[in-house]
Amino acid sequence: MSNSITITRPDDWHLHLRDGAMLAGIAPETTRHFGRAIIMPNLVPPVVTASDAAAYRDRILAARPAGSNFEPLMTLYLTDKTDPNDVAAAYADGLIRAVKYYPAGATTNSDSGVTDIKNVMPVLEKMAEIGLTLCIHGEATEPHIDIFDREAVFIDTTLDPLRRALPELNITSEHITTKDGVDYVKSQPKNHGATITTHHLMINRNHILVGGIKPHYYCLPVAKREEHRIALRAAATSGDPRFFLGTDSAPHTDPAKESGCGCAGCFTATNTMALLAHVFDEDGALPNLEKFASLNGPAHYDLKPNTDQITIEKSDLPVTYPDKIETGDGPVTVFNPGHDIHWRVVD
Ligand code: DOR
Ligand code: ZN
Repeated sequence: MSNSITITRPDDWHLHLRDGAMLAGIAPETTRHFGRAIIMPNLVPPVVTASDAAAYRDRILAARPAGSNFEPLMTLYLTDKTDPNDVAAAYADGLIRAVKYYPAGATTNSDSGVTDIKNVMPVLEKMAEIGLTLCIHGEATEPHIDIFDREAVFIDTTLDPLRRALPELNITSEHITTKDGVDYVKSQPKNHGATITTHHLMINRNHILVGGIKPHYYCLPVAKREEHRIALRAAATSGDPRFFLGTDSAPHTDPAKESGCGCAGCFTATNTMALLAHVFDEDGALPNLEKFASLNGPAHYDLKPNTDQITIEKSDLPVTYPDKIETGDGPVTVFNPGHDIHWRVVD
């Protein structure tokens, strides 16, 4: 059994950094270990235009700790009114790396999202033409669809028709949570990748609901049955280039989570690499951790891997992680898998 692994510095292909005091408080948790991250645009108001993205990028760069080379990879929030030429200009300027598709109402701050995919086909056609990636929150939103079925229904009703209409479009299925998602991505050519979160590799829906409701395990898409977690583990640890890390680390303050109507999101930035080392070690797949966290993502986005490395070590005694990160907006609880972790990144 290996007690130490050195890998190319990882990237996070799906991250919520928020803004203001929250951004200032949590940015160091990501910049400590990650080289780059795809930055989600679901601020209030959302990052819709090139100038919104440029200003947000500057605020992120200003929030980096001294000496950090962390690079935010910006995205635009797709709306029914997005202009294909604005998107193309922002990409040509090197300002954005992807466009984010939220079905309207699917999740946190998605009210301005897409109400019908027909409304955004001109943008998607332009993206396919210029080689710009579409990141998709793949959940159907019709109120009658059971929350545990929303990912599978979206594949049939929206994603597969889109793949057939625009096979050249580079797509990232974000934070897949089901065997259906894994199987669909595997059935597609290599310009269709998927991010998988750390927490969906570690928890199933029982963790949220058995023995009392656990708001810090609630996120969207919600964790599913155990058979789905096992399918995600197999995909992530296989080394298959279509699957890569997107933590979806999504900070909310404790009062916002521990509420009668709690927000969706697990905050995993602080301990993600240690948790992943635990998962890959447990599955006898440590040699594939680098592919999942550091190599497959850049290939999907047509970027080079980072040039430096990190080392993750296993100790006999469990490693202690902070329960919470204090921010100017209030405390944010760090994801706790509910069992000991013996891994830590050597800073
Ligand atoms: O759990 C989630 N939290 N899922 C999302 O899609 C959005 C995110 C957030 O912004 O809090
Ligand atoms: Zn997200």
